[in-house]
Amino acid sequence: MSWVQLPLSAPLNSTTKSDDCTLKAHRSWDKALLSPPDGQTMWTEEHRDWTKVKYDSLEDGTAFPKQFMWGVATASHQIEGGNTNNWSAFEPRSKSKQLSGEACDHWNRRTEDIGLITDLGVSHYRFSIEWSRIVPQEGEWNEQAAQWYSDLVDELLANGIQPMATLHHFTQPIWWEEKGGFEREENLHHWIDFSKRMFALLSDRVRWWCTINEPAVFTTMGYVLGEFPPGVRSFKRAKAVAMNMMRAHATCYQTLKGMENGGLCEIGLVKNINLFDPYRRWNPLHWLQARVLDGMFNRCWINGVRTGRFKPPSALRAKRVPGLKNSSDFIGVNYYTHLLATPFMPTKVEIDPLIRPWEQRTDFRYPMYAEGLRRAFEMVKGLGLPIIVTENGVADDDDDMRPEHIRRHLQITAEAIADGLDVRGFYHWSLMDNFEWAEGYDQRFGLYHVDFETKQRTLKESGATYASIVKSHRTPQVVIMAGGLGTRLGEVTERIPKSLVEVNGKPILSHILDWAQRQGCLNALVLTGHLGEQFDEFTHPGMVVNFHQEPTPLGTGGALWNARSLLEDRFILLWGDDLHPIDYHSLLKTHEKAGAPLTMTATTKHEQMNLKHAEGRLEAYNKTTQTSDLNGYESGTSVVEKSVVLEHGKEGVWSWEETVYPALSGKAAVHLDQTAFWDMGTPERLALLETFLKESTL
Ligand code: BGC
Repeated sequence: MSWVQLPLSAPLNSTTKSDDCTLKAHRSWDKALLSPPDGQTMWTEEHRDWTKVKYDSLEDGTAFPKQFMWGVATASHQIEGGNTNNWSAFEPRSKSKQLSGEACDHWNRRTEDIGLITDLGVSHYRFSIEWSRIVPQEGEWNEQAAQWYSDLVDELLANGIQPMATLHHFTQPIWWEEKGGFEREENLHHWIDFSKRMFALLSDRVRWWCTINEPAVFTTMGYVLGEFPPGVRSFKRAKAVAMNMMRAHATCYQTLKGMENGGLCEIGLVKNINLFDPYRRWNPLHWLQARVLDGMFNRCWINGVRTGRFKPPSALRAKRVPGLKNSSDFIGVNYYTHLLATPFMPTKVEIDPLIRPWEQRTDFRYPMYAEGLRRAFEMVKGLGLPIIVTENGVADDDDDMRPEHIRRHLQITAEAIADGLDVRGFYHWSLMDNFEWAEGYDQRFGLYHVDFETKQRTLKESGATYASIVKSHRTPQVVIMAGGLGTRLGEVTERIPKSLVEVNGKPILSHILDWAQRQGCLNALVLTGHLGEQFDEFTHPGMVVNFHQEPTPLGTGGALWNARSLLEDRFILLWGDDLHPIDYHSLLKTHEKAGAPLTMTATTKHEQMNLKHAEGRLEAYNKTTQTSDLNGYESGTSVVEKSVVLEHGKEGVWSWEETVYPALSGKAAVHLDQTAFWDMGTPERLALLETFLKESTL
């Protein structure tokens, strides 16, 4: 975020001694006497001793729910390069005077950058759509530019990443800026039209939509502090802009919800929550200042969405905004810091803001204050909406703060979830170093370092930290074998591939994916063969499902080898005609503990046996002859390291189990689990599965 200080008073010398006589570090939830403007919760400023905090649950993958959305975020103008918009026009007059120019050259390096996202192991990516590229002149529509975003979405999905699109992230076309932009209500329909067309193009694939990014920052920075375009300092104009941004958001939300796919998509406003705390807690003037700023920057916007009546900062009365009430399916929270308020706050970013003595300054000069993220959640809780952290990160040139910054903010988020707050996801700002608006390239927020000369991207230590926390929590990709002929099922599989045969009202594949999704899996690869074209229309809401068809029957091993470029480093292997509702988490734990290349699930409750195991390892696999030393039956779900496919794979037709299992005897791990598996190999077993699904509470 760009930190905001309103020009209410003269600059304060940054060397002023902080007074913490009433505020102790390491004290939890320091209760203050004054309640905040919404009168609901006490105004508190928690500080904790982070040296005592243990991050075990972040590391062992137990801090977050299985379906948590793990993401990274960017914005078009900050990374794409080559944009012509209100910002590129303003840059020569900006504080840093730096030009965005080629930025990260993301426009030409899309595939490489998707690789960076994939390498982090995250499941979600937030980007913004550059309106000025798509509508460079009034009345024009640049099909190619629109297609670029459509291709981006396809590529993300093909890599198992769910896109989240933002329709306005600080930038707009020059022709629209010249008409007065958000200052004039009659201009709004242009942006609504653009939003409608992009929604029509992408909403069959993009489920998550943000209308406007940080309207309070846009208004304050552009029209009060003059640090963003158009570089104005006028409360009067700011008032009009604020009002019209809320009108635009409300109309956009209502319009998109009414369109095809509107009901299936989640559309929300993104609000930056900048906390304001009284610098000296005994001084009523400091309280007053903090309260005024909090009201102007945070509460009036949140209350607007809650009540449908909006009172822009500095306006005297609230006005009803049509469609504003409940105009969000989720609330996006961008959180960066708190600011300490006094009646004498600096109006220039060059002057360091006040911080508590134990706090650490970020490169942006405001402090790292992770405890405030919880307060931001509490502030939006009254909306009764799912909360998504749409941005959180830190400017930290040498990356020595960022790993800890990530851990602290994730710890706070995990605690909030454990306390019952509905926080669904976390998008780190930002994927890579980029053009930081008025600060130019001087503030680096990325998980990847970008050399702006060569455009080379390099993973930072913090990137590895985030990736490892994500990895410990995410359920790997499921790979489903759905290419078999299903001859034992008789006539039906001559017309329909086995996995699409309906059981209890929907294809078996949907039941399998339902289970995988409940286990936190958001990404499936289905290997098809026989009648593979019939999967073309298949989707599973909330999951990325990719299909890969073998050209001719290759057997189970051949099918995996054929799809090797689409396999994640670790995946869960399932059969497309087999429902095996086991707990993936404990299976993955066994796998992790054993450090095995492959972990298979076995049951002892089966009339036949096909494997011998001892002390958690596979000793022998024998599918054909029943010998008395066999003591388990392989029950379907296994965890596989991709390296196994690469090592044992070959071209042509071959069987996975008959090749790999014998080769891994002594090495593969066995996870004992007595959960029944339900296959539909024969008409009789299909009938049993039908009964099971009818009666079960799965
Ligand atoms: C904005 C980003 C910006 C980030 C860091 C947020 O306010 O949405 O565009 O880069 O803060 O300052």
